[in-house]
Amino acid sequence: MHCLWDNMPLKKICCIGAGYVGGPSCAVIAYKCPHLDVEVVDLSQERIDQWNSDDLPIFEPKLHEVIQECRGRNLKFSTNIDQAIQEAELIFICVNTPTKNYGIGKGRAADLKYIESAARRIAAVAKSSKIVVEKSTVPVKAAESITDILKANVKKGVKYQVLSNPEFLAEGTAIKDLLSPDRVLIGGEETPDGKEAINGLCWIYEHWVPRKQIITMNTWSSELSKLAANAFLAQRISSINAMSAVCEATGADVSEVANAIGTDSRIGPKFLQASVGFGGSCFQKDVLNLVYLCECLNLPEVAAYWQQVININDFQRRRFANRVIECLFNTITGKNIAILGFAFKKDTGDTRESAAIYLCKYLMEEGAKLRIYDPQVKHTQIMSELTEPSLSRDPDTVSELVSIHPDPYTACDSCHALVICTEWDEFKHLDYQQIYKKMLKPAFVFDGRMIVNHQALIDIGFHVETIGKRLTRKNINRQVAPAAQ
Ligand code: UDX
Ligand code: ADP
Repeated sequence: MHCLWDNMPLKKICCIGAGYVGGPSCAVIAYKCPHLDVEVVDLSQERIDQWNSDDLPIFEPKLHEVIQECRGRNLKFSTNIDQAIQEAELIFICVNTPTKNYGIGKGRAADLKYIESAARRIAAVAKSSKIVVEKSTVPVKAAESITDILKANVKKGVKYQVLSNPEFLAEGTAIKDLLSPDRVLIGGEETPDGKEAINGLCWIYEHWVPRKQIITMNTWSSELSKLAANAFLAQRISSINAMSAVCEATGADVSEVANAIGTDSRIGPKFLQASVGFGGSCFQKDVLNLVYLCECLNLPEVAAYWQQVININDFQRRRFANRVIECLFNTITGKNIAILGFAFKKDTGDTRESAAIYLCKYLMEEGAKLRIYDPQVKHTQIMSELTEPSLSRDPDTVSELVSIHPDPYTACDSCHALVICTEWDEFKHLDYQQIYKKMLKPAFVFDGRMIVNHQALIDIGFHVETIGKRLTRKNINRQVAPAAQ
């Protein structure tokens, strides 16, 4: 079925924001809808140049192939924001919505300034009616703010319909998630025009998603569902991480516990991987957003409940850093520590809120020398995260303490310990015998992702520590009191 908006079938859409959400999601739309023109626009010329090159701005498995297929056919990347807005019948807003770092709601509320500026741009230049679709994760009622801005600046003969269409892709599996989503969520007004706009967006997704998997609802439900989904996922990780602390204190194995509870079909096996803590651009931001929302709604008990998900995540990262320090005889000043993995999860070069950042911060505060390796994160990105003013007192000290290495072997050379922060597959298959030979003894492995074969490493001679499990230590006599576990 074709949707008609002002009696015209959709021919051209545009997307404002060429980031982790806008780039892949519009590439897949262009891939699946070859007769629809898709233009992705951004303020940053540098980002657009990268999208137009072979060196894409984000690393994402299979993204390159999809882009190769559509770029130049029906997919375009440009900075011609005004023209793209004017030509498109439907506009996705995929700009960033970071946590506010100033003013009211500082540290918790989402900063909507980029959304507002995109909405104002649409209002300023649109000459015909538009369906405006917010895809960025935003607090409930953001669609209402966009509508207010558009309607307050409306020109004669121009109509707007604002929809909420949250994106559920996870980085590292974005293309797979976009090609076979569990569901697509569309929120809109329950008026005839609202329904027509919803149908227009449904028509795009129906090119490859079965209609029964496209859920339509009112706008606020759709916006809240996105916050709720991320909060529930984050809560599962904090729950298993909280359990991991109990396991370490009692001798249970968190993997066995996760396996046992995951076989209960009401609980399910996914998102029960204990770790050094969740990262990424969404979980912390969205849970904090929810906390702030609950406080504003005068629901302090609900706010405190969700805040605890964040508190456990902070606790887990701190706990793991403390274990490193305690095992290394309570002093790491001047000691070389290899950090394997800096991205917030495998198969992405994204470092936003990565647990590695916090771990590095805690270890640097104790004066450790960090030798960092990640297969995808650029050198400049690592340094920019570690010298972020909210994280480090002094960029010069960071430069003195941190070195970045092109492979894991040089990173581990002459180290007292190696710490696995990201679950990259390649870390499972390193030549640990060779690594062991070049490390100082006793040589420690801290596996923050539970991905390596611990017994094999113990057999080589390593002292191994991991999350949620006590391992037999046969190589050294610990000279410190047992860690507070
Ligand atoms: C998440 C949601 O999954 C996605 O639906 C939403 O659109 C955006 O936020 P993303 O942050 O990209 O996606 O990745 P995700 O796979 O959810 O991982 C988030 C963090 O949790 C990572 O640091 C990951 O390592 C960690 N994690 C995940 C665990 O520690 N244990 C798990 O069992 C799963
Ligand atoms: P996300 O992970 O939500 O996709 P990113 O930070 O990766 O967030 O991408 C958001 C993109 O939106 C950035 O490339 C930024 O330059 C772009 N952007 C922000 N505001 C605007 C705007 N008003 N017009 C066009 N692009 C914008």
